Amino acid sequence: MAEAFNDLILPADKAERYRTLTDEIKAVLEGEPNLTARMATVASMLAASFDHFFWTGFYVVDPDKDDELVVGPYQGTLGCLRIKFGRGVCGTAAATGETQLVPDVHAFPGHIACDGRSQSEIVVPVFDAADRLIAVLDVDSDQKAAFDEQDALWLQVIVKEAFSMSRTA
Ligand code: SME
Repeated sequence: MAEAFNDLILPADKAERYRTLTDEIKAVLEGEPNLTARMATVASMLAASFDHFFWTGFYVVDPDKDDELVVGPYQGTLGCLRIKFGRGVCGTAAATGETQLVPDVHAFPGHIACDGRSQSEIVVPVFDAADRLIAVLDVDSDQKAAFDEQDALWLQVIVKEAFSMSRTA
């Protein structure tokens, strides 16, 4: 399945690309219960689908510190290892439980610059089947205002399908 995905030519229209990608992600994850494997797969497939996704990955709620995120599976340049709830874009998404759509990271108070090339960002909270926050999905772009409400909606659908549904469904 992974090989088939790598050969896939995604349609040009963004909604259509996300629709196809969501189906592909569901198909690849089917039957796989391991959370790290699921996150690594989502990060890889998202990063491979959109050229402007400069950093794509997860910050996971640290099981030993419930107010801190620790870096999880990602694609991109070196990311910071830990982010406190409430700090930066990821920490704000974790603290509020709400998607953060940031057209200009330099205008976001407390933005954490892991890589100076990052210009815009979207962070989507990830909940498990019991509605507990388990992680955030962070996507950065080296272009300003690279993400819109459509990205927010589709990324929310993808994390819901991948992490809030029954793991083996
Ligand atoms: N920009 C993020 C930090 C994580 S990195 O971009 C990988 C933030 O402010 O939360």
